[in-house]
Amino acid sequence: MGLRPLDLSNWFESDHGVAEEVDEKHRLLRDRRNEVVGLLDSCRPAAEELYGMVLEHLSRPKVAAVDHPLVDASLLVPDDLCIMERFDDEWRLSGAVVAFPSRWYLAAKMGRSLDEIHDVVPGYETQLASPVNAFFNRMTPERSVWRLNWSLVDSPELFLPPSHRRPPDDVEEWFFRVERQTLRVLPQTSAIVFTIRTYVRSLEELLSSSADYGTSLLLALDTAPLETLEYKGWVGVADRLRDRLTVN
Ligand code: HEM
Repeated sequence: MGLRPLDLSNWFESDHGVAEEVDEKHRLLRDRRNEVVGLLDSCRPAAEELYGMVLEHLSRPKVAAVDHPLVDASLLVPDDLCIMERFDDEWRLSGAVVAFPSRWYLAAKMGRSLDEIHDVVPGYETQLASPVNAFFNRMTPERSVWRLNWSLVDSPELFLPPSHRRPPDDVEEWFFRVERQTLRVLPQTSAIVFTIRTYVRSLEELLSSSADYGTSLLLALDTAPLETLEYKGWVGVADRLRDRLTVN
């Protein structure tokens, strides 16, 4: 699962880019709200609690939410925010503002269980489903975690719904996308908050800055199962990368 203990003072990373990302969220909420917001009625108490906690975390005065409290909370940080609630014996996605999806549709995941959300992820059912469900059941407010997820994508856009993937002709036109994810229990409502902060850098920039980066990435691609390469749209990418590394 790649989970590490989270120091709660670092719940959200405040670094450069925050203002631009929050601006982008405002734009998406105005122009494509149905694609970036998902709210089941049940999530409101957890959303209220989360909004209060985010205000407190940022040392902002307590003010009533103008929009749904989850939307207001999401506009305070660059991260995407998801609320997981336990019902029908499963942890389910009941509220979300995801402005920066990595090739998935929020609407298709609403109300779904962890297993259902991940049913397209190769290897999830066999290797991750049981430990992830067990971990969620054991989580407490004192035990928060974070993890990283990386991907290669054919666009630098943060808002990335599913689309036809570009053939990997030119490695220089690919981008390395990292998600910093955190999980934390809300003490009052016992809902679990999942946050996702997305960082994107051009592959070219990373290849130029470190020789080790290229070899590590190539190793990861060469050892990934074919079904993963297909799910990610990475078939052929390793060969292009190998060519690029040999030329330079
Ligand atoms: C310990 C917790 C979790 C683990 C270990 C985990 C693991 C993963 C992995 C390995 C992938 C594939 C990533 C990739 O291909 O780049 C994935 C995708 C995904 N995960 Fe999780 N995940 C966790 C929690 C969650 C939660 C709480 C949500 C709730 C929204 C979530 C939503 C998703 C979605 C929407 C995708 C993309 C699926 C698609 O392509 O349709 N994950 N996750």
